[in-house]
Amino acid sequence: MVQRLEGRVAVVTGGGSGIGLATVRRFASEGAKVVVADLDPATGKAAADEVGGLFVQVDVTDEEQVKALFQTTVDTYGKLDIAFNNAGISPPDDDSILTTGIEAWERVQKVNLTSVYLCCKYAIPHMQANGKGSIINTASFVATMGAATSQISYTASKGGVLAMSRELGVQFAREGIRVNALSPGPVNTPLLRELFAKDPERAARRLVHVPLGRFAEPEEIAAAVAFLASDDSSFMTASNFLVDGGIAGAYVTPL
Ligand SMILES: NC(=O)c1ccc[n+]([C@@H]2O[C@H](COP(=O)([O-])OP(=O)(O)OC[C@H]3O[C@@H](n4cnc5c(N)ncnc54)[C@H](O)[C@@H]3O)[C@@H](O)[C@H]2O)c1
Repeated sequence: MVQRLEGRVAVVTGGGSGIGLATVRRFASEGAKVVVADLDPATGKAAADEVGGLFVQVDVTDEEQVKALFQTTVDTYGKLDIAFNNAGISPPDDDSILTTGIEAWERVQKVNLTSVYLCCKYAIPHMQANGKGSIINTASFVATMGAATSQISYTASKGGVLAMSRELGVQFAREGIRVNALSPGPVNTPLLRELFAKDPERAARRLVHVPLGRFAEPEEIAAAVAFLASDDSSFMTASNFLVDGGIAGAYVTPL
């Protein structure tokens, strides 16, 4: 494995599972020191232990906890180079706008969008102190494409993540801080497996729109995150980095 992240310090939120876990492994294999931030102490600690990193139990919707997460990172490893703000939820009660209640709407907005606001707010000052940094915020292809199988708050939250990332990328570019939105297509993770196990018809209905004809593996998304985190993407900021198997480029797909 190339060592593009040798000596870099990275925080991964939602690092205990799925895309976050695959990225923790990828970052570590490329030489980074990794702080795993997750609500779940069992999976989060296991991920940190596996790569010789640090686990910090965090609810990313809690301002004080997020502030402490980045301070602990700098206190432990001396600086902050990379923030992968990735924790997110996709609960079944977030569905059509006609049936989604205000409680589900607000819960999803908090975990998926407010958390990214908080993580950027408390990561950026440490990166300013360091004179550089790379922030990757997990959006989704649904920030770019509309779906008839709606998850209305999720989609709106990811649109917010994309717009916020773009603006932060522009604002902090000349300070050497890059901010990009990562927009994965459907990934074979517990979040999606749980959603689609309950509804195979819904899964098939979505797969037909993927030119590559399959869901991504988390490792394929982690490879893209590592690229955005590394200096290989040094001229990229404020972008919508789609890793979607071709969904956003498709009109009709092969049979
Ligand atoms: N799976 C997909 O198909 C897909 C597609 C596009 C975007 N995404 C996005 O990628 C990100 C990761 O998704 P995943 O599929 O790996 O999910 P996952 O459920 O496998 O992992 C999410 C992790 O986030 C943690 N988490 C949840 N709420 C938290 C909170 N309040 N504070 C701290 N940690 C919290 C969970 O404990 C879990 O470890 C999410 O933002 C999701 O919206 C996923």
